[in-house]
Amino acid sequence: MAYIQTDVLYTREYRDDAINMGKAESFPYYPATAFGATAFEEIKTAYRQGYTYIRTNNPDRDVLAGLMTRLEAPELEAASTVLSSGMAAITATAAALLKSGDHILSNRCLYGETIELFDFLFGKFGVETTYVDMADLDAVRAAVRPNTKMIYTEICANPTIDLVDLPELVKISKEAGALLVVDNTFCSPLSIRPLEWGADIVINSLTKFLSGHSDILLGCVTARPELVEKIYEFSLFMGSPADPFPAFQMIRALESAPMRIERQMSNAAKLAAYFETDPRIVKVNHPSVNSFRQRDLAKKLWKDDEKITGMMSVEFCTEDDAKIDAFMKQLKYVHYAPTLGGMRTTMSHPVTSSHNTTPDDVRRAMGITPALMRISVGIEDIDDLIEDFRQAMSELE
Ligand SMILES: Cc1ncc(COP(=O)(O)O)c(C=O)c1O
Repeated sequence: MAYIQTDVLYTREYRDDAINMGKAESFPYYPATAFGATAFEEIKTAYRQGYTYIRTNNPDRDVLAGLMTRLEAPELEAASTVLSSGMAAITATAAALLKSGDHILSNRCLYGETIELFDFLFGKFGVETTYVDMADLDAVRAAVRPNTKMIYTEICANPTIDLVDLPELVKISKEAGALLVVDNTFCSPLSIRPLEWGADIVINSLTKFLSGHSDILLGCVTARPELVEKIYEFSLFMGSPADPFPAFQMIRALESAPMRIERQMSNAAKLAAYFETDPRIVKVNHPSVNSFRQRDLAKKLWKDDEKITGMMSVEFCTEDDAKIDAFMKQLKYVHYAPTLGGMRTTMSHPVTSSHNTTPDDVRRAMGITPALMRISVGIEDIDDLIEDFRQAMSELE
């Protein structure tokens, strides 16, 4: 027998042949940083189609990427690559596909760090970004330049839930010879699949609705295989392919994602309908309500009001901090959290969080006042959820 140190290194109770008793009910976690081989031929094969080094490839990441492709593009020729966060997915996409002198045409209402990424990082490397309100398609057309290589938008904007006319943006991007990149984080492929509408690339922060348990940080890019290959290769240099552990957790989370997200989307539509009836709420930003300013566009993009998004925002009848604070304290279940997509309903206050550096007049022009609260709707029983809001409303008067 070998000495103890050698023995503990080489005696494996979990030899691969010992688990060939049938298919495991859950996909295993492979934390290994490398996959060994004995013969040179085996090594050569592994480099072509097997597993070698953790940053290059990993079974959990691959299985997750395959599941994401099935969700985002079940009938298209597409592939996915899974990265360490939503931001890593956005950074790798732009870095892999753009070069100095190129121009990004972006929606003006975006996740704040995406704007900072475009302005500060890509600006530094000679990629200029201009921002337009993409609800105004003439403004989009007018902003296209000969060097516009990427048109970038979120499916619905944070926090005002402004939608984009996907088919029209597809036409504009094709005419411009630019790639249309859509961040689908607020809706997820359970609601809409931008690639099926003709977008070139879809990005999901898996940290949100798709993981749902508020304990995973991951991002994913899905597109035609040749685009994904370039993004994947770039992510290797950035060191940003996803760690196997969250990928393993995410495979599990995806198994219940349709059930969870469908419930979140239908709860959101019901909650929005309730808010429409309450005089203490002066504006409801959810595509399912008739007062929504882009209601016709919502009907063009979605057939079912209960399957659009679990996100919404509402404008209270007061901007008074003390009253809003009293309202928040009165809530029994709903609470503040600086994220979205979790199973519990959470709120955030854009003026003090995502848009705290935007000047007040600019914010107001975008529809973001101190009275605006963003709500990420969870899976609670809808009557409990409505009652939680209802019993706190008098604090706003
Ligand atoms: C729309 C959107 N895209 C991307 C991101 C970035 O995702 P992550 O936090 O996973 O990097 C966020 C984060 O909140 C987001 O809201």
